[in-house]
Amino acid sequence: MQRAFRICALVMLLVSSLFAGSARPSVDSKIEALLTQMTLEEKVGQLVQYSAGEATGPASGSVRLRDLIARGQIGSLLNVTGAAETNALQRIAMTRSRLKIPLLFGLDVIHGYHTIFPVPLGMASTWDPQLVNQASRVAAQEASAEGIRWTFSPMVDIARDARWGRMVEGAGEDPYLGQIMAAAYVRGYQGSRLSNHDSLAACAKHMAGYGAAEGGRDYNAADVSERTLRQIYLPPFHAAVDSGAATVMSAFNPLNGVPASANARMLNEILRHEWGFRGFVVSDWDAIAELMAQGVVNDPATAARKAILAGVDMDMQSGLYARFLAGLVRSGKIPEPVLNEAVRRVLRIKFALNLFANPYVPEVKSAAQPRLEPSQDELARTVAERSLVLLRNEEFHGAPLLPITQVARTIALVGPLADSAADMLGSWPGKGDAASVVTLKSALSQRMQQSGGQLLYAKGTDIDSTSDDGFREALDVAQRSDLVIIALGESAASMTGEAASRAHLDLPGNQQKFLETMVAVGKPVVLILFTGRPLALPWAASHVSAMVEAWYPGMQAGPALVRTLFGDVNFSGKLPVTVPRAVGQEPLYYNPPKTGRPAGDADLSHPPRNSAEKYVSRYIDEPNSPLFPFGFGLSYSRFAYSAIQVSRSSSSARALNRGATAIRVSATVTNQGARAGKEVVELYVGQRGTSVNLPRKELKGFKVVSLAPGASQRVEFKVGREELAFWNIEMRHLVEPAQVTVWIAPDSVKGPSAQFTITK
Ligand code: BGC
Repeated sequence: MQRAFRICALVMLLVSSLFAGSARPSVDSKIEALLTQMTLEEKVGQLVQYSAGEATGPASGSVRLRDLIARGQIGSLLNVTGAAETNALQRIAMTRSRLKIPLLFGLDVIHGYHTIFPVPLGMASTWDPQLVNQASRVAAQEASAEGIRWTFSPMVDIARDARWGRMVEGAGEDPYLGQIMAAAYVRGYQGSRLSNHDSLAACAKHMAGYGAAEGGRDYNAADVSERTLRQIYLPPFHAAVDSGAATVMSAFNPLNGVPASANARMLNEILRHEWGFRGFVVSDWDAIAELMAQGVVNDPATAARKAILAGVDMDMQSGLYARFLAGLVRSGKIPEPVLNEAVRRVLRIKFALNLFANPYVPEVKSAAQPRLEPSQDELARTVAERSLVLLRNEEFHGAPLLPITQVARTIALVGPLADSAADMLGSWPGKGDAASVVTLKSALSQRMQQSGGQLLYAKGTDIDSTSDDGFREALDVAQRSDLVIIALGESAASMTGEAASRAHLDLPGNQQKFLETMVAVGKPVVLILFTGRPLALPWAASHVSAMVEAWYPGMQAGPALVRTLFGDVNFSGKLPVTVPRAVGQEPLYYNPPKTGRPAGDADLSHPPRNSAEKYVSRYIDEPNSPLFPFGFGLSYSRFAYSAIQVSRSSSSARALNRGATAIRVSATVTNQGARAGKEVVELYVGQRGTSVNLPRKELKGFKVVSLAPGASQRVEFKVGREELAFWNIEMRHLVEPAQVTVWIAPDSVKGPSAQFTITK
């Protein structure tokens, strides 16, 4: 028996060595072979990233990049663009460095590279992962054509506080929508295979809790309970990892006392061990050095040591890995296997991107248009159209003001954002060229020319001005018009995005005064808002006839707006964030945990409360309700929702936890309007009787339906383990016995509901 076993083992060994001899060495064996040849300095080099261009934060001194590349002491560069530029630096790595390991070029390709799409908050307003996927595919094609194979996107931080400037870079406040969007971006960037020449490695950032910065102030510490972290902030990261995201960026902020660049539990335990992430982690800009300011280390060497032990593989810009890691390994303060493992992770992604075999990109000789296809303008316009959210459309002379009809022969267009091309590109505009942007003014003037009408334009005021000098001209054009379109909002570059938190959520400068002056003329007013966050504009919401949240729609801003305002296409965008009435309500989001003393929302409270009560959870000077709720958006169609049908009145927690068939819930949605339209149908779930205090309701699904006038569609959702499990009192992710309410709804406030029970 033993002899037979030995013969068998010998044969297997022979067969496998035969195969090993004939097959190409696996990536793992290539990596191991490289590791055995690398000096300590060359290993560290793979973990070093510097910026070769403009900086996004405090840079840490000048570095002789070319020399360092030749010595194999840089693994990655950010902020290099252009095929000639990336090729030139790559050539140094591939011809002059000893081991010829290619550089990896990274960039913030956030909502397009040359073709600029709406900012991510606008992309999320489409509620359409397919569109997001297509847009990020285009971004990947354009950026990779210039040698960039890594984008620091998607930002999957949940943002529940509109004061935080970076809300604009993500998918808003909801973890479910955040997961869907995270997956769509990752798949779009990475394409069918990372090795394709037009794929970008995605980077889910910033792990974790960055959006929970206290007071909405950027870079501030966050304190988030383990349950809220698991339930709200981590799911989009997990979805990105499950979709194959090649990299993750650790955040700047301390979370529950531990700075993100030193958070071993987050990076090594949760990300790698629990979720099985096999890519690499890059620090945020200079964040390893910031461990000193954050007070968890006293010297830069210890900062480097803490970061690598916590699982940060690559050091973006601080230079501390370059300065200290090799010495720390030599002195035994960092075990060499820890360094080797980080190097393996980086090399694995370089191999996956096929950079060793294909390090260069073709250089286009002519000074031709850098963008690939004109059809990309069309996609940019479609995504922009779908991202616009119609917040208000009141009747004027017996009919809703929008769409604009032939009656409006003369239109006045006023406001500082009506013709501001650069602002339309939003924050992180990639290589987007303001000269290719079609503004609202240019698209509208073309439209008016075609229809034989007249456009009168006056800027009126600047975004952040105290001077009323321009008001007179704007008043004049308003008086001579049939309809006034006012384009107001924030400066994309200085008031939204990184380091642009605001303590006030009103219109900057004298824009509110300008708005009131224009409305006083008495003409019907359409207010278009270009903002990177929801603003608290209660006066506007009750005084203008129509109001559109446009975010920053990208290079096709003008055509997208004109086509929707005139009704060539219908509005279908819905809010991915709650719009507050007042800044004092922040953080304001639709899914807070249930309070024992709810105010005013009798339908959700138990037992129902009298809304006039004093000792309830509310402000004495502002209602709890938002100005516009999460999930809300109007259309030129009117969608009616039927009562909900539930496939079963009960199910058992035990069975659901074992993967039993989900309960099916459905409702019929009918387009009662006169125009075809798209409706985002939203599924919310609320539970009572659970071991922990859960949110009143949570988004658990959505579907976009397209309906002709008069048409109906039955929309069905599954409610099973995935929708019902939560982090319970023992911090186990399980379904518990509960009383469940489901809503199939047009937004997070309205819509029919139905109940079922989950027994033991
Ligand atoms: C930002 C990151 C960005 C990085 C590189 C940092 O300041 O926080 O989101 O990817 O800069 O530009």
